[in-house]
Amino acid sequence: MTASTVSSRIPVHDVDCIFTDRWSPRAFKQDALPEHQIQALFEAARWAPSCFNEQPWLFVYPANAQHHEMFLDLLVPKNRRWACKAPLLLFLLARRHFAQSGKENRHALFDAGAAWLSLALQARRLGLYAHAMAGFDLERSYEQLQVDPEKYTVVAAIAIGRHDSPENLPEDLLAMETPNDRKAPSEIAVTACPLIAE
Ligand SMILES: Cc1cc2nc3c(=O)[nH]c(=O)nc-3n(C[C@H](O)[C@H](O)[C@H](O)COP(=O)(O)O)c2cc1C
Repeated sequence: MTASTVSSRIPVHDVDCIFTDRWSPRAFKQDALPEHQIQALFEAARWAPSCFNEQPWLFVYPANAQHHEMFLDLLVPKNRRWACKAPLLLFLLARRHFAQSGKENRHALFDAGAAWLSLALQARRLGLYAHAMAGFDLERSYEQLQVDPEKYTVVAAIAIGRHDSPENLPEDLLAMETPNDRKAPSEIAVTACPLIAE
């Protein structure tokens, strides 16, 4: 933790608890999620804003247990250890070009990020948690998901489920099972003048 990091989950300024209630646990209950909850997650993501309303995100989810295993196998071992319990694993893709013009959409990742957060906040509303992961085999993900890298970027994997008792985690993961700190407000929002002067 750096000197300017804020070490508690209590916000410095008054914000809606929907933001502070979201975090990324590793202890998941294995119980399957009902289809209506899965669809509600995607519905929330559907309402995210995007450049030219392109909605370049695509959430890929397993059709069956075999697909679920294949998704799991794409994760790096460190993530697979805990994500194997999560009942739902997704991959988030972003379409690289605008549908109409065919031009490169350099905001696609920004927009996919907005959709991910909508999904993650909706997860909390449903009593679930969503944990994003960059730790997966990128090259193999294109092969296994049969994604054309010219058309899509595989952005992240996401594990979703109910939070389990942290005591069920192995010791090293248990030590990490706590919401993370945040930078101080002054580090993430500045007036333009000091930046220009630098
Ligand atoms: C794009 C992205 C990639 C991430 N990759 C991983 C990962 O591979 N493994 C992991 O355990 N957590 C991963 N995380 C979770 C972050 O470490 C976590 O969001 C961050 O530390 C803030 O903590 P919080 O989500 O609990 O508030 C990732 C999060 C994001 C948004």
